[in-house]
Amino acid sequence: MRIPFIAGNWKMNTTATQAEELVQNMLDRLDKIEDVEKVLCPPFVSLVTVKELLKGSSIKLGAQNMHFEIKGAYTGEISPLMLSELCEFVILGHSERRGYFGETDEIVNKKIKAALQNKLKPILCVGERLEENEAGRTKTVIGRQLSQGLKNIEPTHNLVVAYEPIWAIGSGKAASGEQAAVTIRFIRDTLVKLWNKEIAQDLRILYGGSVTSHNITEFISQPEIDGALVGGSSLKAGDFLDIANQAAAIKHRHLSSPLKGEE
Ligand code: 13P
Repeated sequence: MRIPFIAGNWKMNTTATQAEELVQNMLDRLDKIEDVEKVLCPPFVSLVTVKELLKGSSIKLGAQNMHFEIKGAYTGEISPLMLSELCEFVILGHSERRGYFGETDEIVNKKIKAALQNKLKPILCVGERLEENEAGRTKTVIGRQLSQGLKNIEPTHNLVVAYEPIWAIGSGKAASGEQAAVTIRFIRDTLVKLWNKEIAQDLRILYGGSVTSHNITEFISQPEIDGALVGGSSLKAGDFLDIANQAAAIKHRHLSSPLKGEE
């Protein structure tokens, strides 16, 4: 059984002071939510502060990006080695990195390799644009992002995949649970082909894109969807807690009564 995974991607929001306040507003209650992996991904400058605050709790830490080199003359960049002392996860290939900063599948591939080599667990983001979706090219785009992104990478359990349709990010127009489940099933099938069935069945595949406390049940109640990568709603302590609590409650219900096809 895959443990549900709820991660907050704070993007370029919160000063260190605000980050501290946000964590303090949810720490105790989030810590107590069981059987859900809870991850916060603040900006780089708050990683140290948040790491200190999370010490001794069940909440894990992630970064939002990194360079693929270990060290060197890359002014302004953060390396996997630096992150390895601070956090367990790193978001890679986010569509905002691909779109605004020109990250190609080849760069994403280098970053995933470097993350794994430095004991970081990548949260690999994939997703199609609206035009691609409307042209029926979703599977082609995501198939390419996966095969190129994971090229020459040995099968590993240390990976999380997030399906984030670009048209759903920050738009308030989330995909439907069923739509997301269809694509996530395709992602899992692709992982079976690229790697193997055993690992593909164990990996968590999340949905991301306008997830809120009002629609999380729609996603998490789909057996294929193992959690969410939450942007805007992760910046409000109450909303994020609500999302994590609902994920825990629904997946527990499934544990006690297996869904069709999962018995
Ligand atoms: P929103 O939840 O704000 O749509 O962002 C989703 C996202 O990009 C998470 O990585």
